[in-house]
Amino acid sequence: MNVESIRKQFPILHQEVNGKHLIYFDNAATTQKPLVVINAIKQYYETDNANIHRGIHTLAERATAAFEATRYAVQKFINAKEHAEIIFTKGTTDGINLVAQSFSKAFIKAGDEIIISGMEHHSNIVPWQMVCEEKGAILKVIPVTDEGELDIVAYDKLLSSKTKLVACVYVSNSLGTINPIKQIIEQAHIVGAKVLVDGAQAASHLDIDVQELDADFFVFSAHKVYGPTGVGVLYGKRDLLDAMPPYQCGGEMIKEVTFEKTTYNELPYKFEAGTPNIADVIAFKYAIDFVNEIGKEEIRDYENELLNYFVVGANCIRPMVEKGLTLNGEFNSPIRLYGTAKEKVAVQSFVINGMHHFDAGMMLDAKGIAVRTGHHCTQPLMKRFGIEGTIRASFAIYNTKQEIDVFVEAINRLVN
Ligand code: ALA
Repeated sequence: MNVESIRKQFPILHQEVNGKHLIYFDNAATTQKPLVVINAIKQYYETDNANIHRGIHTLAERATAAFEATRYAVQKFINAKEHAEIIFTKGTTDGINLVAQSFSKAFIKAGDEIIISGMEHHSNIVPWQMVCEEKGAILKVIPVTDEGELDIVAYDKLLSSKTKLVACVYVSNSLGTINPIKQIIEQAHIVGAKVLVDGAQAASHLDIDVQELDADFFVFSAHKVYGPTGVGVLYGKRDLLDAMPPYQCGGEMIKEVTFEKTTYNELPYKFEAGTPNIADVIAFKYAIDFVNEIGKEEIRDYENELLNYFVVGANCIRPMVEKGLTLNGEFNSPIRLYGTAKEKVAVQSFVINGMHHFDAGMMLDAKGIAVRTGHHCTQPLMKRFGIEGTIRASFAIYNTKQEIDVFVEAINRLVN
């Protein structure tokens, strides 16, 4: 993989921030966009802008064809059986809310149980709390181990014939842990429960095959896969989507409306009310092509190399002895890593002893280094570890070991 030629495709990386070369390590929040994606948005508005599925004029046909081409590209990207099982949403959060509202109307009743995990993003906690409140259902939580892995034995004990849905993250945004999602799905299916996979942090790093996983629902966002913001994907098995009522009502999702009765459109349009984010959906295909061209395996191998390089560097940071930062002559590591699972992606949370993560984030920003600081929208997970938040570095294919050297040196300076 030629990182330099990849970097050239990302104009945003070639700038100074606070007088220093930008080092962007906040890729789990959103990845940067390659020129092909930026140009696709510009080109669409310059030459093809029209509403889709409605007009028969040339621009409408061009826009519709390009929009639907992305649906086929996504189908292939995650190996869905049919393109009609791909619903475009605003993003992962939107997809989860759609399933929470629509699935629960069709399938959840009082006394039913929904299982989530202890490392969910708030967007995969709160919608289910609302469902439980509305329906009188019960929310159960899979515990997290000290290494930041899910306790699969405990999960098995939570499952019963009362479990109707398991909503679980594939890759933790805070810890980087890759959960054994295939096993989680298999175990849920044994008791007849359906599974929604939050794939937001998985889609850019791991090969996704929804049929092989046997996922009932799989959601992710374009903007974490080098695509535009405001676009997401909900994959659902046809029989489930067919049995679920529409989430929102408006244009496109209807077949026929009279004042007495409305019949709904077929999949996927039943769940795509209103004019969608056409330009960004079209541009998303260019992001998928970009990722496919490099290859997920290459991406993963390279990112893992960066992660390991950072972890070794961070673990080597020592406080200066003469300032009395060691206790009784013993080594007292100033860096504490959170998320040390065996299977993980290139996301590393850590805290610097004695320093608030926000202060660290601001000082790193002064050196042109962008990291995320805070609870990462996973407050229950932070509570599990007895902390308020962390500094999180998340790496992508355009990052380099030289950037990590600068980062580790900057942390070293903060420590000392
Ligand atoms: N969910 C995104 C993150 O983890 C925004 O940073």
